[in-house]
Amino acid sequence: MKLAIISGGSKGLGKAITEKYASEGYQVVEFSRSAPLPHSVKIDFSSPENMLPVLDTHLTRLAEQEWEELVVISNAASLDPIGPTSKKNSLAVLANININYTSAILFMSEIIKHFQEKPYHKIIASISSGAALKSYAGWSLYCSAKAGLDSYVRTVAVEQEYEPHPVIMLNIDPGVMDTDMQALIRSSHQDDFPMVDYFIHRKNSGELRSPEQVAGGVYKIVQAEHKSGERVAVSSVLSP
Ligand SMILES: NC(=O)c1ccc[n+]([C@@H]2O[C@H](COP(=O)([O-])OP(=O)(O)OC[C@H]3O[C@@H](n4cnc5c(N)ncnc54)[C@H](OP(=O)(O)O)[C@@H]3O)[C@@H](O)[C@H]2O)c1
Repeated sequence: MKLAIISGGSKGLGKAITEKYASEGYQVVEFSRSAPLPHSVKIDFSSPENMLPVLDTHLTRLAEQEWEELVVISNAASLDPIGPTSKKNSLAVLANININYTSAILFMSEIIKHFQEKPYHKIIASISSGAALKSYAGWSLYCSAKAGLDSYVRTVAVEQEYEPHPVIMLNIDPGVMDTDMQALIRSSHQDDFPMVDYFIHRKNSGELRSPEQVAGGVYKIVQAEHKSGERVAVSSVLSP
């Protein structure tokens, strides 16, 4: 049996990814706050201290079992609060950093810790964004977290070259998708997010892919041969 572990698999892209891997015969485990599925584990990435013991319990149990392959998709993220951090509640800013950066790194790092010595094929794909490479006014937390995660993944890829049983690391840019995250963007106030009208236009002109289409692209990328540490765009494997 093959194992797929996904963070933020309760809705949006993560949910479509869990469905795709389940349909391909993987045993799927997803971590999220709402945890709506039989294979869900309830966890809150905004609190790394509370999240770590939950993760450890479940990863210890999973690592004790025999698997043919491990696929991990680090997908959970949040755009809230949108707007300049100096105008936002500092605890909301801290929670965002914890979700998008601190806990995302701990999620990948704990998985490596628990599975490093396993001889089977192991791959971790971090869901990145165009925001890792481009600055958008109002998204300083999100842009910097995604840029930082891209760097973390590239650097771990280099570290893994020294391991006898390396984990393959990838950054995947999903492109824009029709999920709750895009709905939140469109509901932003112009003062917080000056490009709001452009994102409303993108939705109205049918530019957003469905999460299911993108999940198919993520699956294709993870199945293919890539150099560890690479950044791959879903648009490169899907027709326009
Ligand atoms: N949508 C886009 O156009 C777009 C574009 C580029 C990149 N991305 C990236 O694609 C990925 C998926 O985004 P999406 O659009 O599918 O977002 P979404 O619909 O908002 O889903 C986000 C997922 O993250 C989980 N999550 C959020 N906060 C959490 C917390 N505190 N603890 C644990 N889990 C948490 C949510 O689960 P719960 O609410 O149940 O906790 C949910 O499953 C993200 O990494 C995003 O940055 C999206």
